[in-house]
Amino acid sequence: MKTDMCRTPLKALIALCFLVFSFQSPLSAQDGAKLFKQNCAVCHSAHTDQMLTGPGLKGIFDRAPKGDWLNRWILNNEKLIKSGDAYANQIYNKYGKAAMTVFEGQLTDKDVTAILDYIKTPPPPPTTSGPTPGTTGVVDPGTPQAGIEPLYLILGAVVLLAILIGAFRSVRTSLQNSVNRVEGKEATEELTFWQEVKQWINSNTRLVGVFGIILAFMGMKSCWNACYNIGVYYDYKTQKGYKPEQPIKFSHKLHAGDNEIACQYCHSSVEKSRHAGIPSVNICMNCHKGIQTGPQYGEKEIAKIYEAAGFDPKTGKYDESKQNPLKWIKVHNLPDHVYFNHSQHVVVGKLDCANCHGNVKEMTVAEQKSPLTMKWCIECHRQTEVAMEGNAYYDRLHKALKEKYKGQYDVKFTVEKIGGLECAKCHY
Ligand code: HEC
Ligand code: HEC
Ligand code: HEC
Ligand code: HEC
Ligand code: HEC
Ligand code: HEC
Repeated sequence: MKTDMCRTPLKALIALCFLVFSFQSPLSAQDGAKLFKQNCAVCHSAHTDQMLTGPGLKGIFDRAPKGDWLNRWILNNEKLIKSGDAYANQIYNKYGKAAMTVFEGQLTDKDVTAILDYIKTPPPPPTTSGPTPGTTGVVDPGTPQAGIEPLYLILGAVVLLAILIGAFRSVRTSLQNSVNRVEGKEATEELTFWQEVKQWINSNTRLVGVFGIILAFMGMKSCWNACYNIGVYYDYKTQKGYKPEQPIKFSHKLHAGDNEIACQYCHSSVEKSRHAGIPSVNICMNCHKGIQTGPQYGEKEIAKIYEAAGFDPKTGKYDESKQNPLKWIKVHNLPDHVYFNHSQHVVVGKLDCANCHGNVKEMTVAEQKSPLTMKWCIECHRQTEVAMEGNAYYDRLHKALKEKYKGQYDVKFTVEKIGGLECAKCHY
């Protein structure tokens, strides 16, 4: 009788677990907000005009061509640009030819519609009393969506059932005792709750075992996921938007933009080593020995170059004893425990500087455009396909993989698949 009584709630519990599991996936597949966070938030802010790697999407329905243009762009912007579409080429050039990810094969038409719906509906204003009214409208794309994990739901259900079972128990004992009294027997001995739980566990070892394994597995999985989210919860630490004043008013817009000087001319080690490097004053002197006045500050700022180089523009001579190296202030600062390598990303990964640094050619003062958090690295590694085609580094691997999966299905080789999410790849 005892086990019978406990079995009904147990069945209910199992049914509840299945309910929680089965509700999870169909919901999330349709969820535009979630899809946006997973696929687009690294590069776009949905409801503001804040520039990340890509432009903020506020007002996108007014500026983009009507019809199915947005769907076509989002699924395969490369194709649209190549087709000569005017607006596609206009924005591609405007944002420094930064490449947006191609989502064809990864997102369905339905997904894209869900994402567009999400972009169309601005989020309800936060109900919490924000510190300043000015900041409440900005949605941080890095903030994880609040939602209850199934693990907590199940734990909650277990607690609830324990309470129910407790209540059943006392009802049952008093019923049993009334029966005993009528039949003239002695009152049944009351077992403590734990004694009864032990008894129940003993008579249901297999179920308890299976259940224990499921719970332990889910626990481990959420710990593992939490690892990748470190950094997300520390997003307040991000230095995005940092643009310190430099000792000389050096403008990337003037040099790399207007005068089209290649990034590599000054950041010459970017393709060879992990560091991009900051040019020494000698590099400046290659040009500024001759160019002695500037369009905005006249001789004033360029004079600081001469001071650093120990150069006298009147005599055209260097005096080494007067040299005084420039002290540029570092804009991007990864912590010491992180390993980041430029040549791996620029040469092997074939990424453009703008993917991570934004449109430097438009900056008068160098600025950190990306969050540089762990989440930022991880999300890009999850999404970006390894540039295999025509990449000497990967030719052999690519051929082997093509052979292996011939005719089966299109495999997407993201950085994740080559181990780009392993802790040790990025941490000493
Ligand atoms: C790797 C970064 C990246 C990702 C990921 C990305 N985009 Fe973009 N997106 C860009 C860039 C950069 C542009 C600007 C055009 C260009 O340079 O190609 C852009 C342009 C756009 C535009 C046109 C903006 C305008 O002002 O006209 C839309 C719309 C857009 N993206 C939507 C999306 C959606 C939706 C997703 C997710 C499914 C997404 N993007 C994912 C980088 C990205
Ligand atoms: C004429 C030389 C020159 C050229 C060309 C140039 N840079 Fe720079 N760059 C500098 C100097 C000097 C600094 C350090 C001062 C500063 O931060 O403004 C710098 C700083 C930077 C920084 C910030 C570094 C930090 O401290 O974290 C980035 C990012 C950067 N450059 C990217 C680029 C990109 C991308 C291009 C090409 C579009 C480019 N640079 C072209 C000279 C140059
Ligand atoms: C490849 C040539 C080249 C190099 C290298 C170069 N510059 Fe320039 N720089 C220019 C040109 C061109 C101008 C614009 C002159 C004009 O328009 O009158 C300029 C202008 C300037 C100005 C004047 C800005 C103003 O508006 O008054 C400053 C300051 C300056 N550069 C700093 C630097 C520094 C610092 C470096 C080294 C990190 C450097 N430049 C390296 C070509 C160069
Ligand atoms: C995958 C993202 C990514 C790409 C692509 C990228 N950078 Fe960087 N860049 C970073 C990060 C992250 C840092 C900070 C490194 C640190 O603090 O150790 C950085 C730092 C820099 C610095 C500061 C000096 C240094 O070496 O730390 C310069 C200059 C720079 N980048 C220039 C460039 C140029 C030029 C390109 C294109 C040729 C480029 N970057 C491409 C992510 C990127
Ligand atoms: C814009 C996208 C992007 C961002 C942002 C990015 N990466 Fe990467 N990363 C790549 C690509 C693409 C590759 C693959 C290069 C290759 O083919 O080896 C890569 C490869 C790597 C690898 C080598 C992985 C392996 O298995 O060989 C390391 C380590 C790495 N990245 C570290 C970082 C760190 C640290 C950051 C953040 C500070 C970062 N990356 C941010 C795109 C990105
Ligand atoms: C693609 C590169 C990458 C991978 C893979 C990666 N991390 Fe990180 N991690 C970073 C970067 C970048 C930071 C610095 C974030 C910051 O300063 O905001 C960081 C920071 C951290 C921190 C310090 C937290 C903080 O906010 O300063 C810890 C702890 C950490 N990572 C653990 C891990 C663990 C555990 C794994 C494996 C599950 C892992 N990381 C995988 C790039 C990576």
